[in-house]
Amino acid sequence: MVVLTFFNHAGGVAKTSTVRDIGYVLAEQGRRVLLIDMDPQANLTKWLGVEDDIALEQTVYPAIIGSGEDGDADRELALPEPVRVHGMDLIPAHLNIAIIEREILSVFLGVLRLREAVRKLSGYDVVLIDPPPSLGQLSALAVVASDRVVVPLPTNRKGLDGIPTVIKMVREYKKAARDLNIALFVLTQHDRRTRHDRESHEIITAQLPALAPISTPLASRPAYYSDAQVQGMPIPVYAPGSEADLEVRQVTAELVAALGDLL
Ligand SMILES: Nc1ncnc2c1ncn2[C@@H]1O[C@H](COP(=O)(O)OP(=O)(O)OP(=O)(O)O)[C@@H](O)[C@H]1O
Ligand SMILES: [Mg+2]
Repeated sequence: MVVLTFFNHAGGVAKTSTVRDIGYVLAEQGRRVLLIDMDPQANLTKWLGVEDDIALEQTVYPAIIGSGEDGDADRELALPEPVRVHGMDLIPAHLNIAIIEREILSVFLGVLRLREAVRKLSGYDVVLIDPPPSLGQLSALAVVASDRVVVPLPTNRKGLDGIPTVIKMVREYKKAARDLNIALFVLTQHDRRTRHDRESHEIITAQLPALAPISTPLASRPAYYSDAQVQGMPIPVYAPGSEADLEVRQVTAELVAALGDLL
């Protein structure tokens, strides 16, 4: 089993979209996939069409903090039963997982809690974690729980500006997860019609491969992405056979190659 967090503290860089779509393709290829929504916004949960009221007990909350019952502190707390969506298992999110940011600070070695819970799982080939856009505790829990980080990166100024912090934070998180490394930079929202995006892509291509491989860019296709969300479908389900679908499959293959023996 390999655990991957799609990490970038910057907001709106396609963390959630890439977790959803790459997770779907991995599952379609026969791998047993678990997705974990660690973002109080719960976009991954919603975009997979899980509209039902989710209780806090169905999220990562009990495994990380406990249920508040006596004895929790000593008990090994397990992740809840997942929801089944599009051939994948999902541990959904709820707005109130935001409370973890505060409560985790009083848990001894709290930042390791998700790592411990995930490592007790069996029956999965791959676990993909979608953290919120922040450098807070939820992101730390997610990254520290993982074997490798995948960095979604838009091919524009915002993408370039965020890189130093991403690298610095991965180095920080390594203190709690020594084998952690960046597996792949997944280039997202690429608009090759604009010079700005082409230039940013050139800079990324020149500089980042020294750190980790970079993917084929996922093109910017606002209509596809927003419609797929409304329909509660991954891109390969919403638009099978489209260029958007083929790109997602290509990037998934590149991720599988980058992971090598880990997957
Ligand atoms: N290839 C793409 N083309 C066009 N729009 C895209 C593409 N990928 C993602 N988007 C859109 O960009 C927005 C941000 O994507 P997404 O929510 O996946 O990013 P995120 O990094 O998870 O955001 P947050 O930081 O809020 O969690 C969404 O509205 C999504 O539909
Ligand atoms: Mg997101």
